[in-house]
Formats: sequence, structure tokens, C-alpha cells
Amino acid sequence: MARQRASLKRLSMGYVYLSRRATFESTPNPIALALERLQKRGIKPLDLTQSNPTLAGFRYRDDAIRAAVSAPDVMIYRPSPEGAWQARQAIAEYYRERGCPVEPEAVLLVSGTSEGYAYLFKLLGDPGDVVLVPKPSYPLLEYLATLESLELRRYELVFCDRWQIDFDSLEYAIDDRTRAIVIINPNNPTGSYLKRVELVSLLELARARHLVLVVDEVFSDFPLELPPDAVTSVAGLDAGPIIVLSGLSKVAGLPQMKASWLVVGGPNDFRREITGRLAFIADTYLTVGTPVQAGLPVLLELRREFQAQARERLRHNLERLRALAATKSACRLLPVEGGWYAVLQLPPGIDEESWVLALLEEEHVLVHPGYFYDFAGAACIIVSLLCEPAEFEAGLERLGRHLPA
Ligand SMILES: Cc1ncc(COP(=O)(O)O)c(C=O)c1O
Repeated sequence: MARQRASLKRLSMGYVYLSRRATFESTPNPIALALERLQKRGIKPLDLTQSNPTLAGFRYRDDAIRAAVSAPDVMIYRPSPEGAWQARQAIAEYYRERGCPVEPEAVLLVSGTSEGYAYLFKLLGDPGDVVLVPKPSYPLLEYLATLESLELRRYELVFCDRWQIDFDSLEYAIDDRTRAIVIINPNNPTGSYLKRVELVSLLELARARHLVLVVDEVFSDFPLELPPDAVTSVAGLDAGPIIVLSGLSKVAGLPQMKASWLVVGGPNDFRREITGRLAFIADTYLTVGTPVQAGLPVLLELRREFQAQARERLRHNLERLRALAATKSACRLLPVEGGWYAVLQLPPGIDEESWVLALLEEEHVLVHPGYFYDFAGAACIIVSLLCEPAEFEAGLERLGRHLPA
């Protein structure tokens, strides 16, 4: 989060030039600077942004995990661009269990969701072409698009009792260079799932404007206040050109394994063409390690234990946050349909960044300001519901002291 936006200027080092797309400002933001100052004073703030599951006190089956990635055949290198067949079968099975008709042939392994986006952006756009992403949402998308020389344009999600896609802003953002619409389902950090009517409209739009729907479902296994019209996954849907991204990082709480996947949906000719081309891109890099490919069926199976713990924790922490918000009538906790984050709107008139800095400096509690995720309108903060409950509760108590009554 210490990153800054790309400064689209060419950096000269005096004797060589670097590409514009990789020229990012490296000045840390004020919150990263304040954290550094606290660190120098030996102060470790309560971190309400912790969303790394391996540092959040979950119980993992260490022995089973180690055994899964240490089978004897991991000593042999037999690269396959799409990924090991057993791994692709296990992923297809995971989707079938969720009611999604996914065939192993439609699954392609990548080393992370970010790499999945990079492959898709290479495949779908030429330099200067446009991808549309939701606002607010996951900040890394800007870097991922810029690094592929694509222009990122935003369409709005609006909150009106619940979050929904503003189709006027979406259609307005589409032009002849637009290639794809990215949907995050459920979105980070608004937690909002795609709704059935929205999916129908998106499919119509994709068909009419020749666009691909890229749907990031890394958080889709974590529903909290799930509305009846939510679409929990679009994997395997043949109604239009849809590519789904997900991975072990969130599904099994194993980000260190570096194994994610793409699932290509849509009509047969689209599937064949896209999987073939993606395999060509993947063959150029061959990034996914043999041990994790071999272990993936077991690692994916172990998701059940992680997910049971994570869901319980997300629910518990959400309840605590709701109890706090109930005592602060000037604040508003927005509904959390799913995912790992919650959004708390601050009373009108508050300057988001100064408020978050003061909370950090005076109470030693770290939260994210809404602007990190491109929120417009009312000031808000974002907290991770995945935090260890003891730290979360201690943090909420101090947050409560800092919030106006
Ligand atoms: C919406 C979204 N997609 C993808 C990722 C990253 O996933 P991975 O660890 O597989 O790169 C994140 C990480 O927080 C995320 O919020």
C-alpha cells in the first residue's frame, strides 16, 4: 500500500531510459511514513488491515501440506503449459461441487491471480487498449494494466442500500478500444456480489460491444450476508465470453503456494481459441512450480478446514464491528455480503486521511482509508475481518474511543 500511481513520464538515468509503463513513483504515502516512524520508536500498532491468512492465527494441517508438496515425483520436470492434469481435474471438481459445470480442459494454472490478469491483458488488448474496472475496488489492478501498456478506465459501483453496478457509467466508459470488463465477485473491499439482473445486462453488453468479462472470484467462497439474488460464481457459464480467476491464496488460505487458475467459459469456439492462446502465453513463462502442481489436489481438499475457520472468524469479527457501529450513530457500517473486508462510513466533514493518521499516531491502530480503494463521496475506513479476534477486539476498542459518539 506504499505504492503510488504510475507517473507516466519516462525516467532517464542519465545514460539509459526506462519504459514508461514500469516507471512508478516510489515515495511512500503518509500512512506508510507514519508506520515507519512508529516502528522506529519500537511501537507495533494493532493492525486491523491484516489479511494474510498465514499470519492470522489459523490452524493449518502442516504435515499434510508439507507431504502434499513433497511427493517423490516432484523431482521430475515435465512441464505442461496449462498445468498438471490432476491439478486441473481437482479444480474442475471443486467447481462442480459448487454447482458450476467446469471441465478440466477449461482450467489453466498460473502462479497468482496477478499473473492471471497479466496473461489476460496480454491476450485481450494491444498497447493503448482499454480495460474497465470497478470503482471502488482492488488497487493493484491499475499497476497490472499499466504494466501491460493498457489503459485502465473505471466504472462506478454505487451504494444505495446495497452496492450495485452503475450501468450508465459502465456504458459511458466503453469505446472502440475497450476490450474487457473486470468484475470482482464479491468485490474487494465493498464485499458486494454480482446480482442476477446485473449478470444478464453484462452478458448483453459483452455481446453487443464484443467485450470479454473477466471475473475475479477469489473471495466467492466467503459469503456473509448473502442476498438471494447474488451470483456466487460464473465459472463454466456458456452464455457469453467469461473468464474466471481464483486461486489457493484465498480459497485455501495458502498465498505462499503461488497457485491460482483461470477458468475459460463461453461458447465452445471461444473456449477453444482462448485456452489455446493462453496456453501459448503460459508456455512462454512456465511459472507454476512442480511441487505445488503435484500437491494441488490435496491442498484444495484442505480448503474445507481453512474455510470453516475463516467463515467463523469473519462472522464473529463482523458481529463485533456491528456492535461497535451500533453505539456510534454518526457512523455507518455498510452491509457485508461477503469477502474479508468491511467498510465503515465516517461522520460527514471528516478528512479521511488525517483521521486515519491520527488513529495510527494517537491510538496505534492501523486501518485503511477509503481512498486507497478509490472510494468517492463519504469518508470511510476499511478493516479486515480476517484479523485474529483478540487483536481485532483490542483495535475496535481503541477505534471506538477515536470515533465521535
Ligand atoms: C480482488 C483480489 N484479487 C486477487 C488478489 C490476489 O490474489 P493472489 O494472491 O492470487 O495474487 C487479491 C488480493 O487481495 C484481491 O483482493
